[in-house]
Amino acid sequence: MTGDGPLTVADVARLAEARLPKELWDYVSGGSGAETTLAANRAALDAVALLPRVLGGFDTVSPAVRLLGTDAALPLAVAPMAYQRLLHPDGELAVAEAAGAAGVPYVVSTLSSVPLEEIGKVGADTWFQLYWLRERSLVADLVERAEQAGCQALMVTVDVPIMGRRLRDVRNSFALPDDVVAANLAEGSTSRAHDLVAGESAIAAHTAAAFAPNLGWADLAWLRTRTHLPLVVKGILDPRDAARAVESGVDAVVVSNHGGRQLDGAAPSISALPAVVEAVAGHCSVLLDSGIRGGTDILRALALGAAGVLVGRPVLYGLAVDGARGVGQVLSLLAEELRDAMTLAGCADVAAARTVSTVRTVRT
Ligand code: FNR
Ligand code: LAC
Repeated sequence: MTGDGPLTVADVARLAEARLPKELWDYVSGGSGAETTLAANRAALDAVALLPRVLGGFDTVSPAVRLLGTDAALPLAVAPMAYQRLLHPDGELAVAEAAGAAGVPYVVSTLSSVPLEEIGKVGADTWFQLYWLRERSLVADLVERAEQAGCQALMVTVDVPIMGRRLRDVRNSFALPDDVVAANLAEGSTSRAHDLVAGESAIAAHTAAAFAPNLGWADLAWLRTRTHLPLVVKGILDPRDAARAVESGVDAVVVSNHGGRQLDGAAPSISALPAVVEAVAGHCSVLLDSGIRGGTDILRALALGAAGVLVGRPVLYGLAVDGARGVGQVLSLLAEELRDAMTLAGCADVAAARTVSTVRTVRT
C-alpha cells in the first residue's frame, strides 16, 4: 500500500460504492431487517480490546497456518459469495486468482456465476460451499463435481432455510441481470432470480423456490457418509448446535450470522465465539466470519479462540474497484495489517495470537 492508494478496507469500500450502481451496492453491503445485526457485528468487534504481550524477543512474525488440511499464508479464507460476475466481468475467476496469489483458500459458492470446474483450473486452493437444493440428487451431484474439480473441503451453509428479509433488495426490486447466472445449476434453473417483480427481491424468490427449507441433522449425517473431504458447517451461533455438529463428525464449524444478512437480531458472531469454542472443546476447528474488516479484527478472532476467519464483502469491494488486482490489494492490506497487529501484540505466530487475552470495553 502506498499513500495515494486505498489504505484500509473502508477506503476500498468507498471506491466501490462510488463505482457500483446503487442496487448492486445495496445487495452486497446491505443486511436484513433493520440491519441491527449488521451494525452489531462491528460494534462487538470494536468492543474486544486486546492485552498486548511485550519483550517477546523475536523480530519476524509468521501468520501462516494450516486450515482444514490446507496450508494458508494467513489465517483467512475468502468467504463463499454468490454471483461474483455482478461486480466484475471476470467474477469468480478474478477472485480465485487473487486468493491463489495471496496463498489463501477460496470458497466457491453453489451460486457461483462461473462453473466450479473452471474456477478449479485457476490453481488456487478451493473449498466448495453447498446450498442444499430441494432435490437430493442435485446435492449429491454437486458434491461429486466439487471432489472431481479438486476442492479440498466441503462447507455446508445451514443458516439459509429461507433468505433473510433484505429490505434494500425489496425496495430496489432487485433481480439478476441476464448475463449473470448460477453457472453450476442447470440452465434456466435460476430464471426466477432474473424475473423483475416490482416490490420483490427476485433472488429471495429464487431461494424460496430452490433451497430445501427443512434441512435437518439427518441430512448432515447423510452428507458425512457421502464425502471424505473435511466437512465444515457454516452458520452456527448456539453452542448446543456446535456440540451437535461435532457429534455429527464435522471437521469445523463457522461461527457466522451470514454477515447480518439472515436473522436480524442474531448475536454478533464475535460475541458467540467463546461459548462455541468451549462447547467443541478442541474436537473440531472453529472459524468465524461477519464483520472482519482489518488485521486487528483477525487478531481479535484468534484471541477469542478461532483458528481463522472468512472475509466476505471486502473482497467484493476490491473486485468491483479493480478486478483481480483490487482483490489482491484488499488481501495484501489485510496481510500487512495482521502482521503489524501481531508484531505490536507480541505474537510471533498464530499459536501465540490464540493466547492473547482480551477485555470487553463498553461504549460510554
Ligand atoms: C454472501 N454469503 C454467502 N454465504 C454462503 O454460504 N453462500 C453464498 O452464496 C453467499 N453469498 C453471499 C453473497 C454476498 C453478496 C455476501 C455479502 C455474502 C455470506 C458470506 O459467506 C459471509 O458469511 C459474510 O459475507 C461474512 O460477513 P462479511 O465479511 O461480509 O461482513
Ligand atoms: C446471500 C446469499 C446468496 O447472502 O447467501 O446473498
